[in-house]
Amino acid sequence: MTDTPEQTFTLTNDQTGESCTLPLVEGTYGPHCIDIRKLYAQTGHFTLDPSFTATGSCKSRITYIDGDEGILMHRGYDIKELATKSTYLETCYLLLYGELPTQAELDEFTHNITYHTMVHEQMHRLFSGFRRDAHPMAVMVGVVGALAAFYHDSLDINDPKQREISAHRLIAKVPTLAAMSMKYSMGQPFVYPDNTLSYSENFLKMCFSVPAEEYKVSPVLARAMDRILILHADHEQNASTSTVRIAGSSQANPFACISSGIASLWGPSHGGANQKVLEMLDEIGSKDRIPEFIERAKDKEDPFRLMGFGHRVYKNLDPRAQVLKESCDEVLEELGVDDPRLELAMELERIALEDEYFVQRKLFPNVDFYSGIILKAMGFPTEMFTVLFAVSRTVGWVSQWKEMMEEPALRIGRPRQLYTGAAERPYVPMKKRK
Ligand code: CMC
Repeated sequence: MTDTPEQTFTLTNDQTGESCTLPLVEGTYGPHCIDIRKLYAQTGHFTLDPSFTATGSCKSRITYIDGDEGILMHRGYDIKELATKSTYLETCYLLLYGELPTQAELDEFTHNITYHTMVHEQMHRLFSGFRRDAHPMAVMVGVVGALAAFYHDSLDINDPKQREISAHRLIAKVPTLAAMSMKYSMGQPFVYPDNTLSYSENFLKMCFSVPAEEYKVSPVLARAMDRILILHADHEQNASTSTVRIAGSSQANPFACISSGIASLWGPSHGGANQKVLEMLDEIGSKDRIPEFIERAKDKEDPFRLMGFGHRVYKNLDPRAQVLKESCDEVLEELGVDDPRLELAMELERIALEDEYFVQRKLFPNVDFYSGIILKAMGFPTEMFTVLFAVSRTVGWVSQWKEMMEEPALRIGRPRQLYTGAAERPYVPMKKRK
């Protein structure tokens, strides 16, 4: 990245003729950014961009998205290549450290992650404080944040070694906590991690095995799980990642930051959409009802939206959805599942993609559209879908947090606002209020 202010951008006030020249910053790819950090000092004005549609919040070397072309790259590697040639742990290493590992580096990383998969035994008791019918995302917000209460030896954010240990702990322990939250909601005993298994095999075992029976992990399902994890691993400055960064900018500990990311991910406009897609397909029920729901999605008076459709950045295709669609067929075939929801989803996609409303607004199926069908076929309860997103995204959050903490000039994130409230007025005593 070059940020030598060779190129500039001049803003002119049409009324006064005053102008302000600002540096234009160039990245490896993507639109140039106008560096407005000196704008207020030079003009006395702020910028206003409430949903950050045109605002870059940071420089980052981790992930690049070209929404028009449907490109997603991590550290320069295309997501489709990673999904088909890499493993989740190798992708984690890439995101965290910037390069694909050598065999020795991968072995050491795998050992470090595996070594940290267990959680403090006292955390088991934390779970029993939750109602059995609690949404597992509610449990995850609590238990991941609570890691800070157990691992005091890795909370010094100014120590790079402690930051690294926290990163490893989060990548290793979030799947264990996710599986525990599923088991707790089912009334089944927690299953301890099995360090002889791969990351994805171990996760499946912790979710699906019971002590009374032998559990054999299907290689096809383990591969599909790994691929789902890779596809969700990072997505640059989305809502949850931005939440993690802003929390971290105040020098909060990493466990608290990731917990805030989980809270942000839960919303149906973000990671919560995968659960909502399945609920929507169940609500639609049959193909003949699709037109009714398409009309509802188009009706501005109706809050209903086609879940799993649309994206702030992708305006052509979501490359993650393409890969998942292929995995979906493989998984359903392996399991011998003939899920009518898949046919319904495909028909919904076909009709929506031909509809003028969706075409004009460039609304395409996103990653959440197909993930729910695969996860359901694998046996995950619908309420676990967003938890699985959180498991995969933990490495993205942690990598973005680590990158931010390594910035020499880290400052607290503090947006400004356009105040539109009441002008100053005198306090009104109670008896004079109307
Ligand atoms: N169904 C119907 N209309 C839609 C949809 C949809 N799913 N998504 C966007 N629109 C319309 C929207 O009403 C607006 O129309 P108009 O211009 O007439 O007012 C236009 O398309 C632009 O939408 P927007 O809300 O301004 O777009 P956004 O960038 O703010 O929101 C989004 C992006 C993903 C939140 C939105 O498309 C959405 O709510 N989709 C459904 C939820 C979903 O699938 N979320 C998962 C996103 S991918 C995974 C992740 O990032 O976590």
